[in-house]
Amino acid sequence: MKKLFLLPLFIFVIIGFGCNKNTRSEQSTSPQFLEISEAQRLKAKQMVGTMCENCHHPTASPDDRLAPPLEIAKRNYLAISDDKADFVNSVTKFVIAPSKEKAQLHSDVEEFGVMDPLGYSEAEIRAIAIYIYETELEKPDWLK
Ligand code: HEC
Repeated sequence: MKKLFLLPLFIFVIIGFGCNKNTRSEQSTSPQFLEISEAQRLKAKQMVGTMCENCHHPTASPDDRLAPPLEIAKRNYLAISDDKADFVNSVTKFVIAPSKEKAQLHSDVEEFGVMDPLGYSEAEIRAIAIYIYETELEKPDWLK
């Protein structure tokens, strides 16, 4: 008897969760999303600052760098992209699985080797690519 009482509640909770999950995945993990929430922006900013710029340091001296400043990669991808979608798709495609064939920065591939894969999800990398597109990155004086 007690169990039967709880049944409608269970159904309600399950349907509630189901709906919630659907809306959420449509917003932030639909394969081609081009906008990020404030929370995604903050996370992307933190990931770029602590992780990408470890190698792509904006102001390190040439002797100390492990990769070119991120601004260099951004400018190259802007130059080959028709629009934001194109930019975000190309950057995501490279960063999720870097390869010599996909690389645009040929002289940097020669100098530093091809970038290592980082093991982040496609949605995380896509959010970072959108952040890079929308944000003025810190850059060395010689790029200003
Ligand atoms: C372990 C060092 C390292 C980290 C961490 C790293 N990169 Fe790279 N990245 C490189 C190197 C080296 C190159 C230059 C060689 C190449 O193009 O593969 C590069 C090149 C790139 C390029 C240009 C690729 C091309 O077309 O040649 C992009 C875009 C890029 N990185 C984005 C990122 C982003 C975004 C992050 C953070 C999520 C990141 N990288 C983190 C080392 C790193």
